[in-house]
Parts: sequence; structure tokens; C-alpha cells
Amino acid sequence: MAYNLLKGKKGIIFGALNEQSIAWKVAQRAVQEGAEIVLSNAPIALRMGELNKLAEECNAPVIGADVTNNDDLNNLFTKTMEHFGGGVDFVLHSIGMSVNVRKGLPYYENNYDFTHKGFDISALSLHRVLQTAMKMDAINEWGSVVALTYIAAQRVFPDYNDMADNKAVLESIARNFGYFYGTKKKVRVNTVSQSPTRTTAGSGVKGFDGFINYAEKMSPLGNADAAQCADYCVSLFSDLTRMVTMQNLFHDGGFSYTGVTKEIIEQMEK
Ligand code: NAI
Repeated sequence: MAYNLLKGKKGIIFGALNEQSIAWKVAQRAVQEGAEIVLSNAPIALRMGELNKLAEECNAPVIGADVTNNDDLNNLFTKTMEHFGGGVDFVLHSIGMSVNVRKGLPYYENNYDFTHKGFDISALSLHRVLQTAMKMDAINEWGSVVALTYIAAQRVFPDYNDMADNKAVLESIARNFGYFYGTKKKVRVNTVSQSPTRTTAGSGVKGFDGFINYAEKMSPLGNADAAQCADYCVSLFSDLTRMVTMQNLFHDGGFSYTGVTKEIIEQMEK
């Protein structure tokens, strides 16, 4: 059901790769709620061509940007502001990649060149996006920026590898930039800590099936899926959550505050 929550609002959605992507669902949901959007992803992801389908469906231009590249981000915000004739009201940062995970190097044997690359893409990119936007005054007053994260920022999940460190920094950047952007222009910045979700990035984590089943059994409401995550992000882009900023918000069916569930205990007793 649509509520027109984003009527008249304009936004940039980073990170829709294919139909499984959380950003894909957020784009669809934002448009359903009346928003106009620009889609962005890394040039290599654009070459896969799938994003054109979403662009057509959402009537949205696609502007490529490698989030580790300042010129690309300048170009993205310049073209977006030309397209809309002004600033945007919301930004979704739905970007993550670890070369150490891809190459199967465990945390205690990380290659630091890989670590740097993953950090630049997964964490520092949020700072780059916000800094570029602030310099260009590209986000309107009361605008809302949401970045996606995972609870491995707070607790150890051994196979999440260096992405755990990246998420911890990402959440810290949201908090710190949220302070400066809030005082300067009432722009809010939050992270949404999502349940494990079957996507290209998610499935790249070793032992993902066990991981997602465990989380399902450890969450009173079960795992939140990508469409539900999109609902939550839309609420954060809307005017109904204007005073929420600098928060890490768990969207995980209760996983983060559950010590143990009956289902897990029963399994341990077998
Ligand atoms: P996905 O693989 O569909 O999305 C990741 C996106 O990052 C892709 O679109 C990819 O092209 C983009 N990306 C990678 N390098 C880039 C670069 N240099 N410049 C611009 N974009 C780049 O996977 P998913 O799961 O939708 O990931 C979205 C976000 O959600 C990530 O931050 C991820 O860590 C987070 N998340 C995912 C969970 C899961 O279990 N799938 C759980 C909690 C958070």
C-alpha cells in the first residue's frame, strides 16, 4: 500500500545491482511513495546492464559513480542537481564490498591492500558522499541520509571478516557527520542495521546459509527481508521521522536484543 509519504521529494539511490539488492527494493518503494529518484552505481555494475530495467520502471536517470572517486561524486551531484533543478531530500548509501571476503582470506590473515580497498568502498565512501554533498549544498534542509549496516559492527561474527570493521566505521561516520550536517542544515544521517538478506553481497559471506537460518531462529519476528527494509528506509526519508538523527537503528526482527530463543535451546538439547 502507498501512503504518498515521499510526495514531492527527490533522492539519490546508490547500490542497486539486481532485483535482490536492498537498494533495488528501496528505489521501487520510494517511487511508489511519490518520490523522484536518480540511480547510481559503480561503472562496472552499470556494464552488467540490469539497472536499466529498474531505471525504466522508475523513470529515473542512471548516473555512474565509483564512490571511491571524488570526481565521480562531484559529477553525480552536479548532474543530479541539474536534473532536479535543485538539491535532493534523501540519499540511500547501500554499498559494500570486501576483497578479503571475496578472496577467502580470514580476518587474521587479511591483506592490507585489500583491506584499504574494502574500507574505501564500504565505509569512507559515506564520508565522501556527505562531504561532497555538503560542499555543493546538494541536500535540502531536513534531508535524510540512510546507510545500510550490519550488527557485526557491535558483535563478532567470525566470517564477516573485515566488513565488521568497515561497518563500525560506517556507523561512526554517520554519527559524526550527522552532528555537523545537523547543526549546519538540519540534514539527518542514520544507519539501518539489517537482518542477513539473500543478495549478491550477502551471499558472498562464508557459511551464509547457516548464518541466515541461525538469525531467523534467533529473531522473535524472524529475519526482516529486503522489501521490509525498504519500507523502513522510506519511513526514515519521510517527514514522519524528522527528529531522528545520528542513530544506528536495528531492523532485524528483534535479533539484536535477544539472548537466546526456545528454538535454539531445543536444538542444543538434541
Ligand atoms: P548488493 O551486492 O546488491 O549491493 C552492494 C552494492 O555495492 C552493489 O550494487 C555494488 O555495485 C555496489 N558497489 C560496490 N563497489 C562500489 C563502488 N566502488 N562504487 C559504487 N558502488 C559500489 O548487496 P546488498 O546486500 O543489497 O548490499 C547493500 C548494503 O546492505 C551493503 O552496505 C551491505 O553491507 C548492507 N547489508 C547487507 C546485508 C545482507 O545480508 N545482504 C545485511 C546487512 C547490511
